[in-house]
Amino acid sequence: MDPRAHWETIYTTKDIHDVSWFQSEARRSLDLIASICPDKSAPIIDVGGGGSVLVDDLLAAGYRDVTVLDVSEAALDISRDRLGADSARVNWLCADVLASRLPDNAYAVWHDRAVFHFFNTAAERQMYVAQVRRAVRPGGHVLVATFADDGPQSCSGLPVTRYSAPGLHSEFGDEFQLIGSEHEDHQTPGGARQSFLYCLCRRH
Ligand SMILES: C[S@@+](CC[C@H](N)C(=O)[O-])C[C@H]1O[C@@H](n2cnc3c(N)ncnc32)[C@H](O)[C@@H]1O
Repeated sequence: MDPRAHWETIYTTKDIHDVSWFQSEARRSLDLIASICPDKSAPIIDVGGGGSVLVDDLLAAGYRDVTVLDVSEAALDISRDRLGADSARVNWLCADVLASRLPDNAYAVWHDRAVFHFFNTAAERQMYVAQVRRAVRPGGHVLVATFADDGPQSCSGLPVTRYSAPGLHSEFGDEFQLIGSEHEDHQTPGGARQSFLYCLCRRH
């Protein structure tokens, strides 16, 4: 499956307010990032950020070095259009997280909500973790939110892999310390409930 073609189609044919993963505010992500990263100059990347308002929330909270990466240009356009002039304060990367070469030791915080769970093969997950290992600086944090083990089995028409906190941490391995995990019941715009797991790790 070509992820770019799939996601471009999604973002050019659907209203962002109607997609199941839509949030009007990224409160839990913001609170967790604020709890581990008080330094507002710290580099933060939102991987697969798409049209999420997390970038708006981070800028409003005073973070000054924010990167949003997504495989879909249309998704990034949604966020850029929404931000208007403030979009110039953000680094935008249109790239496949598995295929691009991110800079070494670049980020203090790596955030991913609802992206890692699309990587259903061990090879994809190993590529993702290798990217995290390279791009997150020692002592930096990794916040990954996936469907929990009682969550949906697919999203956006694609199968997903669901996780418990120990299961998600084990994908990252001993180089990462599990700091904590939280459960969230996400209400979709259509009124359904989706069980999410937020897992926070620190790179040794
Ligand atoms: C379910 S959406 C979640 C969007 C956003 N994180 C949020 O919480 O609103 C998944 C996002 O991951 C992006 N994505 C999927 N595969 C990707 C990949 N291989 N590299 C980068 N982004 C990817 C999609 O374009 C989409 O924006």
